Amino acid sequence: MHAKNFLVAVGGIALVSAQVPPTTGILSTTLSGPGGNATIQTSNPPATYIAALPPTNFDPATGSVITGSVTGTANANGTGILISVNLTSFPSPALYSPFVYHIHTLPVPADGNCTATLGHLDLTDRGEYHPCEVAAPQTCQAGDLAGKHRNIMGTELVTSYQELYLSTTPGSPYFFGDKSLVVHRSNTTRLTCANFVLVQGNGTASGTGGATPTPSAFMGAAGKDGVNALLVGLVAVACAMLL
Ligand SMILES: *[C@@H]1O[C@H](CO)[C@@H](O)[C@H](O)[C@H]1NC(C)=O
Ligand SMILES: *[C@@H]1O[C@H](CO)[C@@H](O)[C@H](O)[C@H]1NC(C)=O
Ligand SMILES: *[C@@H]1O[C@H](CO)[C@@H](O)[C@H](O)[C@H]1NC(C)=O
Ligand SMILES: *[C@@H]1O[C@H](CO)[C@@H](O)[C@H](O)[C@H]1NC(C)=O
Ligand SMILES: *[C@@H]1O[C@H](CO)[C@@H](O)[C@H](O)[C@H]1NC(C)=O
Ligand SMILES: *[C@@H]1O[C@H](CO)[C@@H](O)[C@H](O)[C@H]1NC(C)=O
Repeated sequence: MHAKNFLVAVGGIALVSAQVPPTTGILSTTLSGPGGNATIQTSNPPATYIAALPPTNFDPATGSVITGSVTGTANANGTGILISVNLTSFPSPALYSPFVYHIHTLPVPADGNCTATLGHLDLTDRGEYHPCEVAAPQTCQAGDLAGKHRNIMGTELVTSYQELYLSTTPGSPYFFGDKSLVVHRSNTTRLTCANFVLVQGNGTASGTGGATPTPSAFMGAAGKDGVNALLVGLVAVACAMLL
């Protein structure tokens, strides 16, 4: 357990100087993970999925409730996903950062148990012991958003970026729309989590408004108040799309 925590910390350092290979003996010094490279996802159908965090955290020990959402929208050309991150109210960075966030393999069950989401979406068997190489994202775990696009070092993160190794094609191994987002503190403990749900079926908002978010079947947002949080998040997204 301690070894794993240490490795996660090393991964965070690797992000800062991405060209420097990990130096401990356990870690691979090659770019490639043990199972090969992830595949850029093309022909993604237009769709937007949002993971809106619930109003209570799975692990309340830090005393701060992380809120906000991560949204993924298929690019109009079908290649890759625009990820929009809007997460806030992280606890003390000095005590708990770097914070990391990933797409996990299973959705969050109705009881909000973040542990039940199992591990990171990792179709190439990169594993947990090979820190993500930012310069070679195809070698990373597909679901390792923090590894590929930076850890969270402060009390909030508002950003967007292109992510080529996720899909909006239901049934694809790279499909993230039926999976979950999990936020961890630096020692890997899971702080909060939420399921991705379908916002709308036709891709980029054109500003014409009127689109009513349509949550998918995976409504099992964390905690008994999760659905309310979800609806608040969806309304916020709908409003944002009107702008
Ligand atoms: C994965 O990508 C890296 C970097 O481009 C390359 O060096 C390596 O050969 C690739 N591995 C496989 C199994 O294709
Ligand atoms: C597809 O669109 C995205 C977002 O505009 C862009 O970053 C990417 O380069 C495009 N890819 C191709 C293959 O055209
Ligand atoms: C992020 O979320 C906050 C709170 O919902 C909202 O006020 C803000 O406009 C959002 N920012 C972006 C860039 O979406
Ligand atoms: C949460 O899920 C994990 C993994 O499935 C399980 O071991 C644990 O007992 C669950 N916790 C609760 C409180 O149900
Ligand atoms: C992280 O630290 C907290 C508080 O010290 C502890 O309760 C928790 O078990 C730690 N998590 C891991 C995975 O070691
Ligand atoms: C989404 O649907 C609206 C209304 O049907 C249409 O005007 C718009 O072009 C569609 N957008 C895309 C990206 O397909």
